[in-house]
Amino acid sequence: MSDTTELTQQWFKNWSNDYDNTLGKIKRHQQLLDMAVKISKVKGSERVLDIGVGTGLLALKFLAKAGCTVVGIDYSRDMMDICTDKIKKLNLGNRIECKIMDAAALDFPKNSFDIAAATVTLHHIKNKLPVIKAIRNVLKPGGRFVLGDLDMDTTGSHTNPKRLARILDYLMPELVEALKDGGVQGFSRMYDNGKKHILNDGEYCVSFEQWSDLCYKAGFTKVVYKSMPNFERFKVLCAYK
Ligand SMILES: C[S@@+](CC[C@H](N)C(=O)[O-])C[C@H]1O[C@@H](n2cnc3c(N)ncnc32)[C@H](O)[C@@H]1O
Repeated sequence: MSDTTELTQQWFKNWSNDYDNTLGKIKRHQQLLDMAVKISKVKGSERVLDIGVGTGLLALKFLAKAGCTVVGIDYSRDMMDICTDKIKKLNLGNRIECKIMDAAALDFPKNSFDIAAATVTLHHIKNKLPVIKAIRNVLKPGGRFVLGDLDMDTTGSHTNPKRLARILDYLMPELVEALKDGGVQGFSRMYDNGKKHILNDGEYCVSFEQWSDLCYKAGFTKVVYKSMPNFERFKVLCAYK
């Protein structure tokens, strides 16, 4: 566990009850999840690992798209409780299983999944390469790693004004969408989140060029990524084992 793990867990504990009313309401976020499911080309009875399942927004889209099964992991009990309530209400318990697990310490046998997907989750982990290697390890040969996230490089010195300007430039359109779709509540939450990105307070976003390099370094054979239509700064990547 990293030194910021507890802070991030506390952040999601506090956010869990209004997550679906804030980020969940932002159309751009729903579109990112749809794009992740589409790029995964999920089919038939494939087995999907949802890393950072949260309140289940992505997992439920996978279940709606194909006859797949999902294993959702998260290290926030509060976020996952909301997901498990939804599963019970929708009677989907035979197709999805949720486990408390740190994404930085995946505990599954080699070759377990056809797809491993993570949306706006892995940027919380600072040391990314070992995690991507572990994800590759749990994928079957030919399996796909799907990543949906902000294409935002927040590396560099916190005292560098150019870095701050670059991050604010990325965050501005996101905050406008948050206000439009999520109202003041949505804006307020995403504004606080933006500060965490700027200070790398449990948020360590990198560019998709950097994510792609990391995937190749981890041993993936082919990596493709594309921007969301109308939201160039959000991207979805697919890496093939
Ligand atoms: C922003 S939410 C994303 C949830 C969902 N994937 C979505 O797109 O709506 C991030 C989730 O990842 C979880 N998370 C962050 N870092 C994690 C880690 N190292 N291990 C397990 N879960 C983690 C958080 O608890 C939270 O539920």
